Amino acid sequence: MAIERTFSILKPDATRRNLTGKINAKFEEAGLRIVAQRRIQMTTAMAESFYGVHRERGFFRDLVTFMTSGPVVVQVLEGENAVLANREIMGATNPANAAPGTIRKEFAESIEANSVHGSDSPENAAIEIAYFFAGCDITG
Ligand code: CMP
Repeated sequence: MAIERTFSILKPDATRRNLTGKINAKFEEAGLRIVAQRRIQMTTAMAESFYGVHRERGFFRDLVTFMTSGPVVVQVLEGENAVLANREIMGATNPANAAPGTIRKEFAESIEANSVHGSDSPENAAIEIAYFFAGCDITG
């Protein structure tokens, strides 16, 4: 199996409720390593650029407002098939559809305030990691 990296965000609803440790424990218990991590306040420009693929969606403006409503924790997670593994750990985008034991089932407040973001492919993971981290910030 391939050791891979994926990009993760703990969203403002998670930092507001002081859930960084509990969510990080889910990643670590599932075998992913947090090889880079930084707590930041996203600007509107950063959120618009990061979620640019959703620009035409009806929820885009609300999403940008939400992602800039408080601090987020940006992370690089490493492990076997990390992209897919993290998507399983997170659960479905809409917490109403998320499986028991997943982060979104246990912690998400709504489809928007869904506690975590994770890359949807290795290609996007590389793009998203490079958006927030320099190579020298990541130690495996
Ligand atoms: P994320 O994985 O960060 O990618 C896009 C985000 O848009 C998603 O999680 C949700 O937080 C948010 N979002 C809000 N409304 C919707 C919706 N109807 N469908 C998908 N994503 C939505």
